[in-house]
Amino acid sequence: MQPYGLGFRYPHYQYIKEHLPDVGWFEFITENLMEPGGRPREVLDSIHRDYPVVLHGVSLSIGSTDPLNQTYLSRLKDLVDEVEPEWISDHLCWATVNAHNSHGLLPMPLTKTVVDHLVDRIQQVQDYLKRPLTFENLSNYLEFADSDMDEADFINEIMQRSGASLLLDINNVYVSSMNLKRDPVEFLDKMQASHIRQIHLAGHEDCGSYLFDTHGAPVCHEVWDLFRVACQKLGSIPFMIERDDNVPEFDELMVELNQARAIHDEAINEQKTQTDGLRSVSVGAV
Ligand SMILES: [Fe+2]
Repeated sequence: MQPYGLGFRYPHYQYIKEHLPDVGWFEFITENLMEPGGRPREVLDSIHRDYPVVLHGVSLSIGSTDPLNQTYLSRLKDLVDEVEPEWISDHLCWATVNAHNSHGLLPMPLTKTVVDHLVDRIQQVQDYLKRPLTFENLSNYLEFADSDMDEADFINEIMQRSGASLLLDINNVYVSSMNLKRDPVEFLDKMQASHIRQIHLAGHEDCGSYLFDTHGAPVCHEVWDLFRVACQKLGSIPFMIERDDNVPEFDELMVELNQARAIHDEAINEQKTQTDGLRSVSVGAV
């Protein structure tokens, strides 16, 4: 599977089927596919005949203190057993409380107690689905006074203990870092490459006193720079462009995807040249 992917959006369906563009894989939104049969599942099956697919959900609410939603999990299991996606992701967040769904991706305090809670619930879901899960880092706007871990340590410990992996959203890293006045490169430095399954690249809106994660704009140059740093540090990890609002023509997304490919390939080649150089120096020393 080639590392370069795109978030599938329905307006692009006909174009994709007619042109079979050079895209390594497509990410589908899980909740659009939970009902068996129907047009969304037909479209998924049709794309899946030509491309690998991955599923990306927003409703697992893994951080909630509500019991896990068995109806949702049962439908998810039927879906993944039928589709056999390359991997399944959701978000490191909570959305429900007392069975009320906020439809938000809400943050949690960064503490050992929350790590324990998340690891326990992730393992329950993985055991039920009989496959590992991938979780995305959030865009943050505020910090909890109760937090006593930094976000990179929090995520690394969850992945280490649960066996899940990280969907590293580089735009979310940038948005959080600017909003909370921290160094995004330091955050990337602390992330363990072996835990990362996928990368998201997206756009945001500058609201003056804060950045707002909208997925409604092209990737900005600061996020491209961070993506380059991520590729240099972490190596080759599947990456994709994520656009939910102001969805452009397919060609426009391909321009962004090709920009990502160029940055990725250059960083990986630089890394390889450095490794080869080190190897020849050590052989010479022997
Ligand atoms: Fe994302």
